[in-house]
Amino acid sequence: DLPTRVRIHEVGARDGLQNEKATVPTEIKAEFIRRLADAGLTTIEATSFVHPKWVPQLADAEQLFPLVGDLPVALPVLVPNVKGLDRALALGARRVAVFASATESFAKANLNRTVDEALAMFEPVVSRAKAESVQVRGYLSMCFGDPWEGAVPLPQVVKVCRALLDMGCDELSLGDTIGVATPGHVVALLAALDEAGVPPSALGVHFHDTYGQALSNTLAALQQGVTTIDASAGGLGGCPYAKSATGNLATEDLVWMLRGLGIDTGIDLGRLVATSAWMATHLGRPSPSRTVRALSHE
Ligand code: HMG
Ligand code: MG
Repeated sequence: DLPTRVRIHEVGARDGLQNEKATVPTEIKAEFIRRLADAGLTTIEATSFVHPKWVPQLADAEQLFPLVGDLPVALPVLVPNVKGLDRALALGARRVAVFASATESFAKANLNRTVDEALAMFEPVVSRAKAESVQVRGYLSMCFGDPWEGAVPLPQVVKVCRALLDMGCDELSLGDTIGVATPGHVVALLAALDEAGVPPSALGVHFHDTYGQALSNTLAALQQGVTTIDASAGGLGGCPYAKSATGNLATEDLVWMLRGLGIDTGIDLGRLVATSAWMATHLGRPSPSRTVRALSHE
């Protein structure tokens, strides 16, 4: 059975751009977000309030957020700690995301913490956000495979998911940071989570397309009842702290599949493709999305 409605969590402006070497001007980022909203996306992750030395591309968060804050869409932002939360709240952010890791190697590389130290760092972030009625998403990276540790055991993932939910996160997003997941693994993880009291309704899925599996994995997740799907316009993306992380699932590829399945997203695919084609000219290379390429040549 497939859901009739799907919520797309657009991450192009954050996950999509964070790994770009050349600095994208703040005005272009704002225009990107505005055009994504115009194309019908309603949840658009805008930026990260992290240490500027760790992610230089997003060092302009303070300048960018006010340029898009008036849009009638949800604009979640990443915050790793209370300092990041303070910065986000000062600008009026109403949705934040913390980002944990299922593996020790990536926790160290991405957050300079052990898994448990990172969770301890998030705890005051989540409780403060909740006290201010700010919605909190909990990302969990390396849910399937890790570039240093290989395949990640299911119980390890389940344990950190439970910790994030028990902390008060409103929803989780299961990250396949390096794109190694396959549909059978997705089904197995969702079943293990369900058994541990984490139902598909509490989950989003966040696939990277490194091995071309992102869309197949998404279909598997939809069939298991997941209705929140992360995607990145034009298939932009990667993580600076995970070697071999490439582009996210392209929003256009997702919309094309959902349309074919009769699942309405309210997204104007033409406008979205035009937005990604426009962004590609700014980044100086064509979009890796098959749908963007196909529809750009029409
Ligand atoms: P640290 O070096 O351990 O930081 O980094 P610290 O707590 O020791 O503080 C050191 C200095 O940083 C201090 O300044 C702090 O004030 C400052 P000093 O006193 O030395 O002058 N600082 C900050 N400044 C601005 N904003 C902040 C902030 N926090 C501390 N928020 C830290 C720890 C978490 C800060 C660092 O590791 C970091 O910023 N990491 C972010 C990495 C990141 O953004 N990665 C990409 C996002 S995750 C991802 O892409 C995966 C995902 O897409 C899902 C998937 O695909 O799996 C979500
Ligand atoms: Mg990601």
